[in-house]
Amino acid sequence: MTPTSHVPAQVLVVVVAASGMLLASVLPQGMAQRTTQGVAAPADDVPRPSASSAPASPATSGGNSAPRAAVVPDVAPDPLPAAPALPVCAYDDVPTRFAALSDWSVTLLDTSFTLGPDYRPDDLVPVGTAGVEGWGEIRALVVDDLRAMDEAARAAGAGFAVQSAFRDHTSQQEIFQEWVATIGEAGALAESARPGHSEHQLGTALDLRSAGTGTPAWEHPDWGQTPAGAWLRENSWQYGFVLSYPEGQSAVTCYDYESWHFRYVGREMAEQMRTSGLTPREHLWRTSDGLT
Ligand code: DAL
Ligand code: ZN
Repeated sequence: MTPTSHVPAQVLVVVVAASGMLLASVLPQGMAQRTTQGVAAPADDVPRPSASSAPASPATSGGNSAPRAAVVPDVAPDPLPAAPALPVCAYDDVPTRFAALSDWSVTLLDTSFTLGPDYRPDDLVPVGTAGVEGWGEIRALVVDDLRAMDEAARAAGAGFAVQSAFRDHTSQQEIFQEWVATIGEAGALAESARPGHSEHQLGTALDLRSAGTGTPAWEHPDWGQTPAGAWLRENSWQYGFVLSYPEGQSAVTCYDYESWHFRYVGREMAEQMRTSGLTPREHLWRTSDGLT
């Protein structure tokens, strides 16, 4: 006879359930959940070491033989697919992998990956279509979220205006050459994309400034500290916009910090980028361009 064989089954069920509830009530919530999952998980879900590498069990080594919950690591698994290492910031002209107009949200552009000179969206409209102050053109697919972001920013006392929007290959060439003439080629490469390499050619990137002033953002010591710049950094993702070149990330973005340059990727992807904590270049590499 086993010690519990005289106990009615109903009583055993109550005891087991009560001990589980007690465990859950004294452990931090996450810990209780992990422990419960560990106990409940089918044995085949738990990776096992081979017999030769398995440590002696408590029962065979003379320790407490009470059953133990499976150990679940505290480190959350990386939710993004595995991809080769992010390429270093080389200067090259490699055709970008996703270069159709319909690929706008995943087209990766940097100092190496480039669009052809003829890439030009066929649905450009004035930024004023979104009711926002400023000039230039954007793709029509950006309008609704740009309008929503503009209204929310103004309501928060953080109104912004558009300084620069779509730029074709030729105008990017002119801008890059102006930078070279002004600060030299090395400086220009850190500040400005060479023609074919600018997100502005996608028609989904915007350089922003504070509303009600003609002063470009880059003339501020750090426009990211102004009401508009700070609000956009924290809230733009909710409207599908991401900061392409955040502070302190030049090694992976390939450009100096630009508090004013936002790219539209759509709300879903912007939220994923925000959650991942990766820069847009890293995130696009991990989730599309870098995958085989
Ligand atoms: N300033 C950014 C890198 C551009 O020229 O597109
Ligand atoms: Zn820009």
